[in-house]
Amino acid sequence: MALVKVTIDNIEIEVEEGTSILNAARKIGKNVPPAMCYYSKLKDSGGKCRTCLVEVTKGSEKDPRPMPKLVASCRTNVMDGMVVANTTSPKVKEARAGVVEFLLINHPLDCPVCDQAGECHLQDLGYEHGREGTRYEEERRTFDKIDIGPYIQLHMTRCIMCFRCVFTADQITNQRVHGIINRGDAAEISTYIEQAIENDFSGNVIDVCPVGALTDKTFRFKSRVWFTKPMDAHRDCDKCSGKTVVWMKGNEIARVTGRKDQFGEVEEFICNTCRFEKKELSDWVIEGPRKIERNSVMSQNHYTLNPEKPVVPARISMNADNPAFV
Ligand code: SF4
Ligand code: SF4
Ligand code: FES
Repeated sequence: MALVKVTIDNIEIEVEEGTSILNAARKIGKNVPPAMCYYSKLKDSGGKCRTCLVEVTKGSEKDPRPMPKLVASCRTNVMDGMVVANTTSPKVKEARAGVVEFLLINHPLDCPVCDQAGECHLQDLGYEHGREGTRYEEERRTFDKIDIGPYIQLHMTRCIMCFRCVFTADQITNQRVHGIINRGDAAEISTYIEQAIENDFSGNVIDVCPVGALTDKTFRFKSRVWFTKPMDAHRDCDKCSGKTVVWMKGNEIARVTGRKDQFGEVEEFICNTCRFEKKELSDWVIEGPRKIERNSVMSQNHYTLNPEKPVVPARISMNADNPAFV
């Protein structure tokens, strides 16, 4: 495939034709626009939240005119010679602050009691772009919490309508049982008549949800996430790769999730058995501490990584059955 040149925040890179501006920025690895709805593993995701807006100051070598409006970088492909401004554009900063304000219009911002706190992209965005206080005077919409099956709880009040969970249910489970009903400000995620979501991969909706709307009932209120220690772990599983992160509290497994990269996306989707039913240390081969690559409170208090000598909590290292600990 032909390569095209694009410059983002003064850094030039060559990418394959058809690459989106967002993915080109991810390739550079710096000044990556935030993405609350795009998820590279989910086909057709993106184009919903507008947090990834960028300014195209030069359209292409052939047509150097700037694009008249800010564009969604997850949905706009690069052209040869394109020049893009993200963090270097005051217009983008202002627009992103506006988008955050809109996202927060109906959001409770109850971070102190929200399980997503500490690993929440909306919380990060709020801190980076939010305004103090709100100009919103109308009543916020609120919903009752709904149990969708034995393991997942939906708290629509926190949902930002990114559609990721719907795409996940559609694309990686064999039976889609939930979606978005109603329109406009009445739109909501629903299983229709509160049916349980029951299939082997349904738990992945928790990992893809960028906020605390879909939560793991086996972990709810057990711990703030920054008090847990993430460990790469694996087990033989006949449904998924069995490669996960187990989040340890002392020598107990508080929760199990997929392995997320620096963009907050899981590397591989995992099955519900691994996620919800394997909470004993003996279920897992612990590989060592997980390096959290994204800018997060969780990267602050963990380990000095030395692959030769993983630093693990003393109590866990007493578990002699585990090769990582001996
Ligand atoms: S979803 Fe994020 S921003 Fe919203 S309450 Fe939870 S932690 Fe706070
Ligand atoms: S429940 Fe979560 S993943 Fe689903 S649309 Fe709402 S915010 Fe997105
Ligand atoms: S990530 Fe591009 S619109 Fe949401």
